[in-house]
This record gives sequence, structure tokens and C-alpha cells, in this order.
Amino acid sequence: MHYRLELSYESMAVGDLSPEERDLLKKAQEAAEYAYAPYSGFSVGAAARLSDGRLLSGNNQENSAYPSGLCAERTLLFYLGSQRLIPLVQMIAVYAPLSEDPVMPCGACRQVMYEYERLGSIRWTLIFAGASGRVYRFMGMETLLPFAFVWRR
Ligand code: THU
Repeated sequence: MHYRLELSYESMAVGDLSPEERDLLKKAQEAAEYAYAPYSGFSVGAAARLSDGRLLSGNNQENSAYPSGLCAERTLLFYLGSQRLIPLVQMIAVYAPLSEDPVMPCGACRQVMYEYERLGSIRWTLIFAGASGRVYRFMGMETLLPFAFVWRR
């Protein structure tokens, strides 16, 4: 058998986002300012909108022992996980000021995002942006990580 995958996403201007999406992207933008990225110089901010209206954010945290650092997405999500807030997540926005194009999460972050999304009952709205003002919008992590690793006994 031969299979073919199709995925869809939207490419739009920041101005075409909904007010909630724009607010969340702004939160990610602010969070990027507090990144600890002295080694790469590449700051990233990530923000989550919860079903109770809260906006929470994280950013990348680097270390002189390079592999000890962590991406913005996982810094945010592991914090939310530690507070048992993952099931409330509705929307995620990621922003990197030094990237012209929308910044896309690394493979490890996609795996974490994929698994956490399934702890809630809705598919996440995912917004990625860079300095150009162009935004990519994805609906659900399945689109960003088809064939994700899932462990079942
Ligand atoms: N980084 C993120 O925080 N998120 C991404 O989606 C890609 C990469 C960080 C990791 C590292 O601190 C810096 O960007 C350069 O790779």
C-alpha cells in the first residue's frame, strides 16, 4: 500500500489574527526579552492561553554546559505540567525576534507538545512568528508531528 499525508496550516499577517491570538503573541514577544541565551544569542519566547483566560509564558534557558539548556516551549510546558495546568491549555504562541520567518519548534519540543496536547480535550491552536510580522497558524500537534512516538503497554 502507498499512503500520502496532507497537512494544512495558514500563513497570515499578525494583523489577521484574532484579538486573543494577538495578545498571546505579544505575551510571547515580551517573554523573549527575558530569555537567558548568552551562548546562542537567539532568544525565544513562548506563551500559553488557558481556558480560564490566563496567559503564562516561558523562554529559552541556556547554560555553559550546553546540553543542559532548554527551549522556550519546553520551559513553558514543563512549568505548566508541574502546576497541573496542561489540560487547560488552549493556545500556544512562539516568537523569536532574531528570526525573520516564523520560528518553528524543534523535534524534541514537538514530541512534548504532542503528548501534552492529548492530556486535554481540545486540539491546540499553535501560532509561530518572527520579526517579519508573518505568522503561521496550525490547528493541533498532529499536523506538526505526524507519527509521533506514543508508548503503550
Ligand atoms: N530554541 C527555542 O527555545 N525554541 C525553538 O523552537 C528552537 C530553539 C532555543 C534553543 C537555544 O537556546 C536557542 O534557541 C538556539 O538554538
